[in-house]
Amino acid sequence: QRVPFVVANWKINKLQADVVDFLKKVDGKVPDQAVVETGIAAQDLFLADLVRATAASPIHVVAENVHWEDSGAYTGETSPKALRDIGAKYVLIGHFERRKFFNETDSTVNLKVTAALRNGLRPIIDVDEDMSTYAQFMDAEPSVAQVAAALAGVSVDQIRNVTIAYEPTWAIGSGEAASADQAQKAAHLIRQTLAKLYSPVIAEQVRILYGGSVTPDNAREIMAQSDIDGVLVGTAALDPDKFLKLVAIA
Ligand code: 13P
Repeated sequence: QRVPFVVANWKINKLQADVVDFLKKVDGKVPDQAVVETGIAAQDLFLADLVRATAASPIHVVAENVHWEDSGAYTGETSPKALRDIGAKYVLIGHFERRKFFNETDSTVNLKVTAALRNGLRPIIDVDEDMSTYAQFMDAEPSVAQVAAALAGVSVDQIRNVTIAYEPTWAIGSGEAASADQAQKAAHLIRQTLAKLYSPVIAEQVRILYGGSVTPDNAREIMAQSDIDGVLVGTAALDPDKFLKLVAIA
């Protein structure tokens, strides 16, 4: 069935020496990817080093963003072709912080998703809440529109390489995670959406992660939910011991 997936999202929080230190501390302690898949999302400038440093480790290297053109005059952007070339395996696309601070829209997210897939990268597509129910705050549902828009033009063959991550905006970095029940309901709604867009069989094959204030304390209950296949972790995953605990829980 679906292999659990634990992804650390370091954002822009580590320096070179911290990266080396983290890898040293988790070295040899991460299980085989057939049991649980693990990934580390880091700033572009660390990715090539990370690929080399994890060559003998099951940890996958994840980019935090990508451009939608393979090459050309796009100063400051990162080419999906180059990401693939250096050995990155996954890429986060449409994280709430990218949508909020860098004006990413459903349409640029979709361009990035198709560019990643075209280049053999596996997108981890981030969705947050449906703004029409946002006023209800903690009860907001995941944005089905974001899921559908991100996947426009993604084929039945390609969808198998996609992971969806639900991260409610209010839970990101707040110390207040969704309850396991809220996270399950959200993941279930996303899976139903995938069933409508593709088929129920395919929907069962796509991994859905929860993100937002995940810690070793709340992860067990969240990951025990039937529609949740793993976690996307910011703050807690900066700490190698907590990262290893999360992987052990998965
Ligand atoms: P925190 O785990 O710090 O809430 O961050 C979540 C996140 O944004 C992961 O992508």
